[in-house]
Amino acid sequence: MCGIVGYWGKKNSVPILIKGLRRLEYRGYDSAGIAVLDGNNLNYLKRSGKVKILEDALKGSHIKGKIGIAHTRWATHGIPNDINAHPQMDVTDSIALIHNGIIENHSTLREILIRDGVKFRSETDTEVLVQLISSIYNHNGLSLEEAVRAALQKVVGAYGIVLISKDEPDKLIAARFGSPLVIGIGEGEYFVASDAAPIIEYTRKVMYLDEGEMAIISNGELTIKKIFDNTVVSKKISNVEWSVEQIEKGNFPHYMLKEIHEQERTVIDTMRGRLRVEEGDAFLGGIQDFLPRIESARRYYITACGTSWHAGMIGKYLLEEYAGIPVHVEYASEFRYRESIVGPDTVVIAISQSGETADTLAAIRKARDKGALTMGICNVVGSSISRETDCGVYTHAGPEIGVASTKAFTAQVTVLSMFALMLGRRKQRLSKSQGQEITRSMNKLGGYIKEVLADDEQLKIVARATQHVNNYLYLGRGLNFPVALEGALKLKEISYIHAEGYPAAEMKHGPIALIDEKMPVVFIAPRDKTYKKILANIEQVKSRKGITIVFTDKRSEEIERLSDYLIVLPSTHDHIFPILVSIPLQLLAYHLAVLRGCNIDQPRNLAKSVTVE
Ligand code: G6P
Repeated sequence: MCGIVGYWGKKNSVPILIKGLRRLEYRGYDSAGIAVLDGNNLNYLKRSGKVKILEDALKGSHIKGKIGIAHTRWATHGIPNDINAHPQMDVTDSIALIHNGIIENHSTLREILIRDGVKFRSETDTEVLVQLISSIYNHNGLSLEEAVRAALQKVVGAYGIVLISKDEPDKLIAARFGSPLVIGIGEGEYFVASDAAPIIEYTRKVMYLDEGEMAIISNGELTIKKIFDNTVVSKKISNVEWSVEQIEKGNFPHYMLKEIHEQERTVIDTMRGRLRVEEGDAFLGGIQDFLPRIESARRYYITACGTSWHAGMIGKYLLEEYAGIPVHVEYASEFRYRESIVGPDTVVIAISQSGETADTLAAIRKARDKGALTMGICNVVGSSISRETDCGVYTHAGPEIGVASTKAFTAQVTVLSMFALMLGRRKQRLSKSQGQEITRSMNKLGGYIKEVLADDEQLKIVARATQHVNNYLYLGRGLNFPVALEGALKLKEISYIHAEGYPAAEMKHGPIALIDEKMPVVFIAPRDKTYKKILANIEQVKSRKGITIVFTDKRSEEIERLSDYLIVLPSTHDHIFPILVSIPLQLLAYHLAVLRGCNIDQPRNLAKSVTVE
């Protein structure tokens, strides 16, 4: 949510910043801006719309300089327009500030500043912060760093900020409270960004700012201090593993399609070194030291948002069955404000692709305060959730750029399957041979995914036949109920077709009223223990003239008769099928969105990393 990039060095910062914005555009894309110091001159340019519009506008300007900041916005306060775009400037255009997050007490601060004679130009909470810094700087004889620190003490809310000033033209200051910031360390140059994507082509060496820390770059030196007591912090340098190729589209027209196709490999990466095929077991190094507490816990909570929450639902079904431990799955936004039964006998598992989602991070902090053991399942190495949890497992799906999550979801479910399997074996609820059935199926998953990806003709036919509908229904049972939820979410996110997921048998309690000849109904119907029941549900839709689109793992006369469109997938273990069937559902959403002319990688109003509440 909002992309931030800053540069301090020897080169002209403008191309570096623009390229950085393009790499961060998946975080927000309603407006963009840049501010650059050229000696004592501070020049800036802002444009509503995509980064490309800003880039074109820059071609006609003379903006250049070795220290600069840039921002791509996902609007919170104030509509997306040139004025509300960041950087926000103080009243004399001396300080430029970019911000990710929300200043919650902005109206009170704004009123005080207006009383002091400050004239505001934008509707943003960010302008309040830059005006506050400026007012403190100009009236108290403080240095820029001191003024920033003093202003931040007055602020309530979340921020990742970077600022520069023409009055101290050698300095770049960044601060973090609630919204992530990474600092890249090059040869005589520094980068600051919301995540590592804009940095990795210049340097692999990074430092992650922790909550309440600020970075001051001046005279070629980087100093990190605590915002609230000004003590200097010494931090370790980490190495980013991701490569530039991984964050580029390659030959695919969209990141989403590339990421869907990567799954034949990413699920293998997720299992690498962890799956013990012949022992029918799994080994997860990141939680090994905590296993006694994990095994003896009375209950688990899984907390997450969006797609990650759906993965959590699948995790619940698997964990309860394999490990026999009650699992509650809660949206992080609910968990953080609710009095749930959490204490030292509870394990709270946060699932997050980005590891930065504000609600999930807050949920983990609350769980920790209540004495629970916290465990993260994250994709981004070094992310806030992965650093703030007691233990965890990385999904190793590689960078996910498309806003609609695909490969991260299947990687999360893969981790949860291994986790449940491992606990089931340790608790002797699963025998070695039961374990082997699972591990052998998991071991073949990459090959099955390849098969599924090789032929999506039938999905394109379904997409063409249903591209003009307004609604879609997704039905599944057991483990495939969360898969139905995720299928529906993918479709609404990128094609803007309204879609709902339901447990198949619940259809008769409401959704059946919607069925007519214009309603496509997706059934996820493998030959598991509820297969016969779901056939009856398909029959009910068919007899009301609904369009039946059935995903199964074995052809039969009956299912052919009931299906307007039948997609037959390789047959696998019931517990692995949810991972496999998610892939054609992603492709169906993709093809529908392409036919409807939607922006696949940057769907309207959404953002990849939701770092505000
Ligand atoms: C946003 C994204 C979703 C994602 C959700 C949770 O809504 O658009 O794709 O599932 O955030 O994100 P996380 O990074 O915590 O998994």
